[in-house]
Amino acid sequence: MSNEILIHAERGVMTITLNRLDRKNSITLAMYSAMADAMAAADADPAIRVVVVQGHETVFSAGNDIGDFLNRPPGGMDSPAFRFLRGLPAFSKPLLAAVCGPAVGIGTTMLFHCDLVYAGDNAAFSMPFVNLGLCPEAASSLLVPQMLGYHRAAEALLLGEPFMAEAALEVGLVNRVVPPTEANAVAQAIAHKLAAKPIAALVATKRLMKQGQQQRVLQQMADEGTVFSRLLVEPAAREAFNAFMEKRKPDFSKLQGGTT
Ligand code: COA
Repeated sequence: MSNEILIHAERGVMTITLNRLDRKNSITLAMYSAMADAMAAADADPAIRVVVVQGHETVFSAGNDIGDFLNRPPGGMDSPAFRFLRGLPAFSKPLLAAVCGPAVGIGTTMLFHCDLVYAGDNAAFSMPFVNLGLCPEAASSLLVPQMLGYHRAAEALLLGEPFMAEAALEVGLVNRVVPPTEANAVAQAIAHKLAAKPIAALVATKRLMKQGQQQRVLQQMADEGTVFSRLLVEPAAREAFNAFMEKRKPDFSKLQGGTT
């Protein structure tokens, strides 16, 4: 495994660091696998009480690697990306994130499954699925309207408009906005504070807060996955991915309407 995902465990806290800066921490199949494996191992390991996901002070993640979307689209629900996604709502222990700079696609949608999120004041959240010919994932079509309200969710998911750290704080997606150089350290400090608490009580409290819609979240994820997989190989998405790779604007004008 390359060092594009760094895993570090210390005093009950596992930290998963996205470390592919030359590609803006976009996530490849191998990186999804490494993160899914790390989270499963953390959940099973009594020595780990809390997990933190972090990026760099300039960028959290540019979302799925677009070359992978083009050349190696997820083949089924067992693909590394879907495995990582399913692991998010299933994760039983506290899950924290430190987010600075762009958080695109899964870089934003994974945050709806985190218990606490700390953002640099440069954080920019975006879910440009429609602009890429895709639909939401990670149950974001359920969780974003719930948190933002329908009309702000429509701006984020239909228009694909980014929103900044202060707006994310206002709607409750992040807990605190701090200077980018401090975000990872703040998340670490809170993680260690949590790790000192009784783990059974933490796990039980998280489960009780989440259990009301756990099944609905998993069902929404599965429904999204079916549509997402189909859209990934349709002409609109292919045009969007090729346009990104060729550094040009996509042209959807010649495409016919679909019924997906
Ligand atoms: N997949 C693959 N490569 C990516 C990538 C992605 N998701 N995001 C960025 N990169 C690559 C760029 O192609 C560029 O490569 P190059 O150096 O060979 O030209 C490099 O990373 C730097 O990206 P760049 O766009 O120049 O950085 P920026 O600071 O101007 O913009 C982003 C950063 C994140 C806003 C921008 O890269 C972006 O919008 N990326 C695509 C996000 C996306 O649509 N993701 C899919 C979500 S479902």
